[in-house]
Amino acid sequence: MKFKLFCLVVTSFAVFGFFFWDSAQSDTTKPMKNKTDFYFKMGLVKEGRRLVKRLGCNDCHTAGYLKLKGKVPEKKWLTGDTFGWRGPLGTSYGSNLRLLINNYTENEWIKMAKTLKSRPPMPHAILNAMSDEDLRAVYWFIRYLGPSGKPAPDFKPLTK
Ligand code: HEC
Repeated sequence: MKFKLFCLVVTSFAVFGFFFWDSAQSDTTKPMKNKTDFYFKMGLVKEGRRLVKRLGCNDCHTAGYLKLKGKVPEKKWLTGDTFGWRGPLGTSYGSNLRLLINNYTENEWIKMAKTLKSRPPMPHAILNAMSDEDLRAVYWFIRYLGPSGKPAPDFKPLTK
């Protein structure tokens, strides 16, 4: 009887253990439906939020963020902007990172961020120089916010 109980306890720990291990390890683009899916990522999510704020990603990737001096609710962050940055090559728009990130696994995102060469004014050198750990944090923060909004307008080349 005692042995049976023992087996039951061991089995339930194994099942739960696997469940949590699986959700902690997941590096896929499978949708995370509820915030409890992020239980083991909350440290990274917090760090990602801090980095995004400090590095000013919202200035260009969140509509109205500069004008409202940052008084934009977090649920609207990084959904892209229709404000056009006019440069010598044409007009570029801060992309919707909330939609973009779902096309990448964690490792793909890190690789992309380290090699990204984008048009001005995107400061891609900042992303290129970030550590894997910081990029991982930014990744999970944006995944945590979840997909939202519409894609930003496409780049418009200058017509002569
Ligand atoms: C000064 C404005 C500005 C800031 C600050 C900025 N970005 Fe950007 N970002 C842009 C613009 C504009 C584009 C689109 C560039 C283009 O059309 O090639 C872009 C593009 C990107 C892309 C590529 C998107 C794609 O569709 O391929 C990524 C990823 C990105 N930004 C992430 C970030 C992150 C993360 C931060 C914060 C560390 C950040 N950006 C800060 C303006 C900015």
